[in-house]
Amino acid sequence: MSPDEREKVNRERIDRLGNGLTITTPQLESVIRKVLRLILLNRSRSSGRAGLMISGESGTGKTTAAKAAMKYVYVRYRNDLPDFEALNRIPIVYVEVPPGSTGKALAAQFARFLGLPLHTRDTLEYLLHLVSSALTEVGTRLVVVDEIHNLHRRNPGNSESVDVLKSLSNQIPATFVYSGINIHQGHLLTDERGRQIAGRFGLERLGSFGIANPSQMNMWKLLIESFEQQLGLFNHRPGDLKELARYLHDRTQGSIGSLSHLLLGAAQGLIFAGTPPDQELITKEVLDEISLDIAAEMTSEP
Ligand SMILES: Nc1ncnc2c1ncn2[C@@H]1O[C@H](COP(=O)(O)OP(=O)(O)O)[C@@H](O)[C@H]1O
Ligand SMILES: [Mg+2]
Repeated sequence: MSPDEREKVNRERIDRLGNGLTITTPQLESVIRKVLRLILLNRSRSSGRAGLMISGESGTGKTTAAKAAMKYVYVRYRNDLPDFEALNRIPIVYVEVPPGSTGKALAAQFARFLGLPLHTRDTLEYLLHLVSSALTEVGTRLVVVDEIHNLHRRNPGNSESVDVLKSLSNQIPATFVYSGINIHQGHLLTDERGRQIAGRFGLERLGSFGIANPSQMNMWKLLIESFEQQLGLFNHRPGDLKELARYLHDRTQGSIGSLSHLLLGAAQGLIFAGTPPDQELITKEVLDEISLDIAAEMTSEP
């Protein structure tokens, strides 16, 4: 390769790693399966539609799994209705609950996603009407509401936001997925108000990977190998990190987020440093150089 070609390839590889990889873990597959099933089931229901809650610690892959499900639904939808864009259809909607949300702020997130005009003087009632008519009109099938743990405080803004979700999910014939940090615990979706939005919701709990027994260890090694397969390094083969499985678990506490950060960071570092292709290999020395977030490092043994 000429130096120019090499630089181009390296830049592409760094960008690709920067966008993150998606490994089809059993948890991710389970989320996709459940979402597809719910959409099918809900299609024939005019009320009492069921939904899914994705709950777990930060960095367990909730958003990644929700987005993988969205992608899956999107591809299917596009196959069924190739010219859906010309028909003004928006099959999937994704919003994040802002910190300190109010009813209006949350309704505005929906409006923004749908490209609806917003004015500061819009009332909550008006926004709700605008959003729910639009969602019905564009035939939305799947609504993903992420960062829903931001509604955990019991204050008027949050109660109003919960009411917005309740009212939208009652009015529009879509399947709702709520995702957030440990939302299955606490009062968020279990007190009276919460039950009204999550009464018919199934739960998918995402957690970290263990290595307590041989089958867990195999799973963990498989996960590492899946990352290795996609790193795109010239001299790193899947399985090269098998010996470091315990070390990697100790560094990351079995968090897929930390593992991703560590391995992708190591690979990017090697490429960025202009390492000769025959030395593009992730070793313990390379990994030792990558620091992780404080939460993962604090509990890791020296
Ligand atoms: N299935 C997966 N395959 C590859 N990387 C993943 C996967 N799940 C999560 N990650 C990575 O872990 C990090 C945290 O994931 P994210 O989905 O944002 O977690 P959460 O929403 O639970 O906080 C991200 O960098 C993401 O790319
Ligand atoms: Mg997330």
